[in-house]
Amino acid sequence: MNLRDTLKINSAGVLEIGGAAATELVKSFGTPLYVLDEDYIRKVCRAFVKTMNEEYGDGNVCFASKALSCMAMYKLIGDEGLKADVVSGGEMYTALRAGFKGADMYFHGNNKLPKEIELAVSNGVRIIVVDNLMELPIIDSIAKKYSVLQKVLVRVNPGVEAHTHHFVQTARADSKFGCSIALGEADIVIDAVKEYSNLDYHGLHCHIGSQIFDKTAYIIAIDKMTSFIKALEDRGIITNELNLGGGFGIYYTEEDPKYTVDDYSEYVATVARGVKSMIETKQIRKPVLTIEPGRAIVGEAGITLYSAGMIRDIKDIKKYVAIDGGMFDNPRYALYNSKYSAVIANRANAPADEIVTIAGKCCESGDIISKNVKLAKVEEGDIIAVFSTGAYNYSMSSNYNRNLVPPVVLVKDGKADYIVRPQSYEDLVRHDVIPARLK
Ligand SMILES: Cc1ncc(COP(=O)(O)O)c(C=O)c1O
Repeated sequence: MNLRDTLKINSAGVLEIGGAAATELVKSFGTPLYVLDEDYIRKVCRAFVKTMNEEYGDGNVCFASKALSCMAMYKLIGDEGLKADVVSGGEMYTALRAGFKGADMYFHGNNKLPKEIELAVSNGVRIIVVDNLMELPIIDSIAKKYSVLQKVLVRVNPGVEAHTHHFVQTARADSKFGCSIALGEADIVIDAVKEYSNLDYHGLHCHIGSQIFDKTAYIIAIDKMTSFIKALEDRGIITNELNLGGGFGIYYTEEDPKYTVDDYSEYVATVARGVKSMIETKQIRKPVLTIEPGRAIVGEAGITLYSAGMIRDIKDIKKYVAIDGGMFDNPRYALYNSKYSAVIANRANAPADEIVTIAGKCCESGDIISKNVKLAKVEEGDIIAVFSTGAYNYSMSSNYNRNLVPPVVLVKDGKADYIVRPQSYEDLVRHDVIPARLK
């Protein structure tokens, strides 16, 4: 557990988030339930923005909204002065419906659809992050239609791949995203941008990985990116913006460091100082610096509350605790073997002396929330709180097995409000049609 002032165990031994006891939340909203801590989200946003301003000056913090896209989230991050990165027409539409301005959005994607590009251009999206050569004529022609000079960043692979405690430097360019600097693809795309009258080469983007704690990975990426900016400048091409993507790590289990909000400030400061010092050394024009954290902003702000159901103890082999959720609210184990920590929220002080596998209710053996979780002895009906589920859980949810996507509540000072309402069975059949020939 990475407890904090808004995530604690109260005097009754109950887990409390944002001042609301998990037991009360469950009484009001049922399970499974996504719970988000508003104060924590705001604190992390403020730390990122303040540090960027103090350490770099001309910078943007952009929420990678793929981590959690819903209208209230765009409202919240907009209030805190963040911009948003969107990767689909759906995310863009959600942001626009929340009143978020196109001028504060970055549009990403390795295969942007013409109708998505049109939505972006017609709503004045600040930047389109170009991923490959083929999309240039499409963006250009749509920009022409709207008489827009569309600013673009070119997404490049600097040859650094990072994850948690490891990073590798590689000239291998087997990513489905972006153009390799080492293989010369980046130069080709940047030169090509210059050929289109409605595209404006504004700068570079890279994203080196996710759940990164080793800051050295960023420093190496910054070195490679600034060297590339220098090489472009020597060819007369000015880079006005450098976007270093996201990837800042969060606490999932005991294997991860417990970062505080101040640690995130330090993290951003390291990146900002790294860029500043390298642009000075290499004598290049100072670009606007942008970062795109997703997980670090909402990951630890979220917990999911489940009710424990069937318990299957396979003697001397494994103990499964089945919950009323599963891969339809959190597919990350199925996708990446992700690990989580958890607690019995109604008896949060009970010693965690069992190792269990928290399993979902879907018809898939891979439907696991997390393996080998330390928990107190679970009884049917206990509330199991799984930590750090704010990022890439709701946004990756589905109706697999026609389960209902759980609602999301935002809590602050003990008050909880829906930001995503519960689904009903009727919602599941709303778009179903039985053609006449089957009737
Ligand atoms: C381009 C880009 N930016 C930002 C992010 C956010 O990463 P994270 O949530 O790890 O901060 C991602 C995640 O995949 C990404 O692909």
